[in-house]
Amino acid sequence: MQQTDPSLAAPPAVIVIFGAAGDLTKRKLIPALFNLASQQLLSEHIAMVGIDRVEMDSVAYRQTLSEEIASFVGTGFDQALWEANIGKAYYMPGDFRDAQSYARLKTFLDEVDREQGTPGNYLFYLATPPSFFGVIATELGKAGLAQESEGRWRRLIIEKPFGRDLESARALNTTLHESFAEHQIYRIDHYLGKETVQNIMAYRFGNGTVEPIWNHRYIDHVQITVAESLGVGDRASYYEEAGALRDMIANHLLAVLSVVAMEPPNSFEADVIRDEQIKVLKAIQPFDAEQVLSDTVRGQYGEGVLGNGDHVHAYRDEPDIADDSATETYVAMKLMIDSWRWAGVPFYLRTGKRMPGRYSEIVIQYRHAPNMMFRGALERRRDIGPNQLILRIQPNEGISMEFNAKVPGTAFNVSRVCMDFDYDDYFDESTIASGYETLIYDCLCGDATLFKRADNIEVCWELVQPVLDVWHALPPRSFPNYPACSWGPEEADELLARDGHHWRVVPGCSR
Ligand code: BG6
Repeated sequence: MQQTDPSLAAPPAVIVIFGAAGDLTKRKLIPALFNLASQQLLSEHIAMVGIDRVEMDSVAYRQTLSEEIASFVGTGFDQALWEANIGKAYYMPGDFRDAQSYARLKTFLDEVDREQGTPGNYLFYLATPPSFFGVIATELGKAGLAQESEGRWRRLIIEKPFGRDLESARALNTTLHESFAEHQIYRIDHYLGKETVQNIMAYRFGNGTVEPIWNHRYIDHVQITVAESLGVGDRASYYEEAGALRDMIANHLLAVLSVVAMEPPNSFEADVIRDEQIKVLKAIQPFDAEQVLSDTVRGQYGEGVLGNGDHVHAYRDEPDIADDSATETYVAMKLMIDSWRWAGVPFYLRTGKRMPGRYSEIVIQYRHAPNMMFRGALERRRDIGPNQLILRIQPNEGISMEFNAKVPGTAFNVSRVCMDFDYDDYFDESTIASGYETLIYDCLCGDATLFKRADNIEVCWELVQPVLDVWHALPPRSFPNYPACSWGPEEADELLARDGHHWRVVPGCSR
């Protein structure tokens, strides 16, 4: 997260993409590199080396990329710029498990360095299935490619899943650390790369009025919702093994929570910020088995009808999903944070597939005014209540404050109104968009603020592990328990109702 002049080009380097023939590379990574180039954020001395099992040479690879790039970049694609840069893309066929591929890669990289004037800085991006993370890191280490010397850096980017439980996450961290030092490892949680998640920090720590009331004295509870309208799609093999708890809660939602709940850092340095995030994650009350039963809810979608009238299948009827699948596609939970700031403030998290809309937001619900002198006026209206601050992550990124105002007229009536800030009204939308641009740029610059450290990964798994254990021991009996295109199982409403709360009704998504 560069604070300096954004027009500053990142240092020269070769970006080595493992999994170069895969979807992530063509849909996200290459377009992100193109966008960075078009904003002049890349050095003139930059190159990309793709490596994968498919047999082809650099010329054929460039051709493949060129065929589809325009559709993945969308508006803003500039053919002349693409043609001026495509010569910086190379390809080397290789087997990720074979030591010889790494010896060849080393020689290949020397040649690219000579051709492009890159100084031996390498960013290894593992766009591969997670089963390859350990072996690639190990083989890079054995080939001497992880070794930093004489000012040349070597960095490794990996994406979730970082293990599938606490034990495997620890084992993965241990394997990575055998070849790479922690400062060389950049673990992506793409939610941290989202502009609006980063804006939470700007909003909290860049405004004098926010922090003084950002605590248990003024805040009643917090809701974090990440709702998706899509179902499992074609990811059955991954999702059946993962489920919503591993896929979303163990990483994205806890990442968002840590940004909302962290203490103000003393500086903008990566480790200072990440230390604060760890502190707050560690302060979350661990679940015991009883609390898993009382404070978590799991769900799986049944068939349903979308807003446009289309009928959609139940999760168990999706391609390659078991007829009796126990995988959860929805999770809600209540977390309490043991700290002076948050004592007694519940944090409610929910995420699910096949919700009525794609909608992610954080709701900060403030306490009631201490003396309700307008009680009569308030009672006439059911839609009014305590102030709510809504931080919208997607879509329509922005911030709203809902409060009560007098309705004009002779009677003293009070009504709910909303003050709205929309990103689009103030900022140019054509700037960096997908999150990958920021993350790749930051990694090239050596800024790890938006990446997760090993300890963060492990703390999140420590928190989630008891839930995994109890859910595993007690398979769900009522799946499917919410219809597609609804807001999840009734138990999720009851979870809040018990505390006298309810989930905020997302405007336009009331089903
Ligand atoms: C991914 C999950 O990490 O995040 C997906 O694996 C999920 O299941 C996706 O759909 C959501 O990301 P976004 O940016 O679309 O909200």
